[in-house]
Amino acid sequence: MFPEIITFKQLGDERGGLVAIEEETSVPFHICRIYYIYDTKVDVERGFHAHKTLSQVGVAVSGSCEMVLNDGTTEVCTRLDSPTKGVVIRPGIWRSMRCFSHDCVLLVLADQPYDESDYIRNYDDFLSWKCTP
Ligand code: TYD
Repeated sequence: MFPEIITFKQLGDERGGLVAIEEETSVPFHICRIYYIYDTKVDVERGFHAHKTLSQVGVAVSGSCEMVLNDGTTEVCTRLDSPTKGVVIRPGIWRSMRCFSHDCVLLVLADQPYDESDYIRNYDDFLSWKCTP
């Protein structure tokens, strides 16, 4: 199924919300790296790359944004607007993010350390890479 959406269990109570994310169970991989994107200007679009081997899950833990995912054939846009909604970004998926609300904090969980050589940053290179057996 594309895109893969995860609904995290809401553990909050009358005091407020709480979501716990555990590797291998809440997300389908071992969590090696966590980063977050914040203070993104509202008219900024970012991303525009794919990864060869990296798997990620994105969650807007505050505010909202849109995640556009493209597998080389199909493009889908998912609105991330809840701390309980995650989108899985598998290897070989071109992604971009847009429509950031001023308060958006986009948390990203990743299964590998940062490695620039895992990035494909040119869309034509991405399409060629997808066609390579
Ligand atoms: P990049 O992944 O290109 O951001 P985006 O997809 O949101 O446009 O990362 C921006 C810069 O930050 C780039 O120079 C690489 C660096 N970076 C790290 O050093 N470590 C990381 O874990 C990440 C995600 C990025």
